Amino acid sequence: MNKNFYITTPIYFCNSNLHIGHCYTTVAADTLARFKKLQGYNVKFLTGTDEHGQKIERIARQNNMQPKDYVDSIVVWIKNLWKIMNIDYDIFMRTTNDNHVRALQKIFKKLYDSGDIYKSEYEGLYCTPCETFFTEHQLVNGKCPDCGRDVEKIKESAYFFRLSKYQDRIMKFIEDNPDFIEPESRRNEMINNFLKPGLEDLCVSRTSFKWGIPVDFDNEHVIYVWFDALLNYVTALGFMSDDNSEYQKFWPADLHLVAKEIVRFHTIIWPAILMALDMPLPKKVFGHGWVTIDGGKISKSKGNVVDPQILVERYGTDALRYYLMREISFGQDGNFTNEALIKRINFDLVNDLGNLVSRTNGMIQKYFGGQLPDYIYEKNARLEKISLDTVNSYENLMNHYKLSDAITEVFSLVSFANKYIDEIKPWALAKDETKKNELANFLYSLTEILRIISILIYPFMPSTPQKILAQFNFDAQYINWDDAKKFGVLPKNIRAIKSDLLFPRIDMEKELNEIRG
Ligand code: ME8
Ligand code: MG
Repeated sequence: MNKNFYITTPIYFCNSNLHIGHCYTTVAADTLARFKKLQGYNVKFLTGTDEHGQKIERIARQNNMQPKDYVDSIVVWIKNLWKIMNIDYDIFMRTTNDNHVRALQKIFKKLYDSGDIYKSEYEGLYCTPCETFFTEHQLVNGKCPDCGRDVEKIKESAYFFRLSKYQDRIMKFIEDNPDFIEPESRRNEMINNFLKPGLEDLCVSRTSFKWGIPVDFDNEHVIYVWFDALLNYVTALGFMSDDNSEYQKFWPADLHLVAKEIVRFHTIIWPAILMALDMPLPKKVFGHGWVTIDGGKISKSKGNVVDPQILVERYGTDALRYYLMREISFGQDGNFTNEALIKRINFDLVNDLGNLVSRTNGMIQKYFGGQLPDYIYEKNARLEKISLDTVNSYENLMNHYKLSDAITEVFSLVSFANKYIDEIKPWALAKDETKKNELANFLYSLTEILRIISILIYPFMPSTPQKILAQFNFDAQYINWDDAKKFGVLPKNIRAIKSDLLFPRIDMEKELNEIRG
């Protein structure tokens, strides 16, 4: 069995600081990568930065900086953000890397030699913030259909990629591989809005600015930033370099995770480039929805940037990650509000999960002085069954990238366990000397449930499981997938350690007042 798994986020434009929407994609990818690693896959998780183009050149100039110095400073900021968000990437790809630049030049030349790239003249409408050309009929009220800003008329000599040539093959590929684009609504959109109207050749070079990868056989031209960027997914693995062993191992990608506005680049332009190079296509492109604020897209120009650093400072990384993955149904848009975030923390993390941990811990303290005694172990069949059912359905959902549904399953188990405590009434068992064995068994089973919950939440909330296990004097070795489907793994004489609350409760009113300043 091939146990390699290659997953990517988009490489983000290096034109400003990233916001909560970018964090959403990266956290989702990190969650899936951690899940696959937990399952024993050999995972490559790529994220990175898209550093060329006119917009970055302009912004650098406005900041009185050289473009390279400017992007270097943004990259430092972004890497720090991923550290704060606990993103465990394997590759941080930068399109200014020497290897990438050299490979791009070779690829461009190769496609020029094969006739898939040709020289002509371009006249068209360009949106600089989105680094995208549009035709007249794609505009919405004369403005960019993606960001709503003005487009510029551009006329220049340029190289073109024969996208039109691949139209039928791409259509056939998408029809033959119904799982290639998900969710299905995005697939239909690609077919109806882009493929059926017909593909035009794509302008892949520019002469009006300098900050890009030069076409090495025609130095006036720099390579179009999207052409440059898409190829990062393979140059990052050493494609067209001296050592392409990683490419051999990990390409084609298992999953390109992107938001809906760039699905067409990944499911039409990217496949066409790969076809022209005679390379296999990625197995799946998943286009998730947007994190919105007041129902609109987050963007600096709209002035409603939510600063992930501030949110992490106030609530912690795991709480923010949990909220993003739980609140927004994966594939749909979802509105961000501070109220909803605080509610999720107070209800799910404090009242449900935190409470289950502190009750279990507290009962071992109270009824057994902090350590379960010797007792005759009997499996609690009901708890065993429900936790195994949860693990199975979680695994199935995760395998289908249904992140919000998977984490919801885990929290149903948490609620069940809390209700089950009320049903069993351990406080009543504690009053009856003949029920001590039963009580010890029950507390053991609850700790087992917490062990299984810890494994399942780990991909979403990587720091919390260790905190839960530490309350019972166990370490991270118990976070392993092999044991997720077993009940009765922990040693019997569990010790509970007096601990801080897993998550502090947040005073909603006070918090909202402070945030709104
Ligand atoms: O498009 N909600 O970079 P970019 C959800 N450089 N996701 C969001 C989001 C939001 N409000 N805002 C951003 C580019 N994202 C190109 C990609 S790949 C070869 C080149 C996430 O900085 C989402 O993943 O504009 C989206 O697709 C990506 O950031 C766009 O980032
Ligand atoms: Mg964008």
